[in-house]
Amino acid sequence: MSRDYEDVAAKFWNLPTKGEEESTRETLFMDDIIQKAHIDREIDSLLARVTDVTTVLDAGAGVGRFSIPLAKRGLEVTHLDISDSMLKKAREMAEEAGVTDRMVFVKSRITELAGYPSDCFDLVICVDAPVSYVYPRHNQVLRDLVRIARKAVVVSVASRLGFFPYWYNPAQKHQYLVDQDSGNPILKWYPPPTDQTWEAWQPDFEDQRRFLDTGLLEDPDGVVAKMERGETPWPVTYCFLPEELARVLREAGLQDVRLSGPGALSRTVPQPVLKKLLFVNLFARILVAPVVGLIYIGAVGSVVWLDLGYALLVSSMLPKVIGFLM
Ligand SMILES: C[S@@+](CC[C@H](N)C(=O)[O-])C[C@H]1O[C@@H](n2cnc3c(N)ncnc32)[C@H](O)[C@@H]1O
Repeated sequence: MSRDYEDVAAKFWNLPTKGEEESTRETLFMDDIIQKAHIDREIDSLLARVTDVTTVLDAGAGVGRFSIPLAKRGLEVTHLDISDSMLKKAREMAEEAGVTDRMVFVKSRITELAGYPSDCFDLVICVDAPVSYVYPRHNQVLRDLVRIARKAVVVSVASRLGFFPYWYNPAQKHQYLVDQDSGNPILKWYPPPTDQTWEAWQPDFEDQRRFLDTGLLEDPDGVVAKMERGETPWPVTYCFLPEELARVLREAGLQDVRLSGPGALSRTVPQPVLKKLLFVNLFARILVAPVVGLIYIGAVGSVVWLDLGYALLVSSMLPKVIGFLM
């Protein structure tokens, strides 16, 4: 059955429009700008500390939001993804960036990493939740990601505490729309709330309880049933608790785990203020995006209930090679 769950993700991410959609995320969603800035900073900070990094695996690499910049820095990047649509767009973008000679594109699943020898990539990244789409094999995939990394790991997954207010508040996503008048069809996913939105909304306490207990956004068998009816549902998504993620990674061999909720603080900022901060001009965007996402980083590791970003970001240098803790 678990293979079926992954097939839902394969179908969803293989939609022909997905490559284009993913490549415009930062022009549409404020939370994507913030989250990407946060992950960029985490990767930068690791690369500043870890010596001799030449090879990188980006697992579930999408259209190359992270793999292409890493190749631009001169690293040898293996860009692995389940989706032809993503890989096609990623190849085009790598071509435009002039980095195809430093990139290898692999169509594969992150549940199929067993063939890679231990320690075979200096840096392994797997960000913006591919691990959350492989339930119930998420922990095995985390262990494999750590196993094949020689020096450092950066992983981000869906966060249970962060998704809870997002999933059960029909107006929540609207707060993060960049421009509801842009005419881009993606924005129609999240129409602004109206009086009808509120009238139609009914709290479903049983479902909320189920979500908090299981970490699954929807009942997996219901999702598979939708696919069998010919639909392309949102994939089965497993949302981690912060301590759970840290524990699995420690058990996999990481001794130092740096955990944060990217974009958590921005969720407390009203939309018009956030929009102004990010879009007043390019300077403000570059300056403020990392700050709004990052103020939380110190707090979240120890005060886990404050994590309200919808992702959890974890990074670690591997002590077995580096010899010191961050
Ligand atoms: C939200 S996108 C993030 C892409 C990229 N990491 C980024 O941050 O731009 C999730 C990616 O995971 C990929 N994915 C989902 N399930 C996967 C699996 N089982 N194996 C490999 N890739 C997978 C999807 O095709 C998609 O490109």
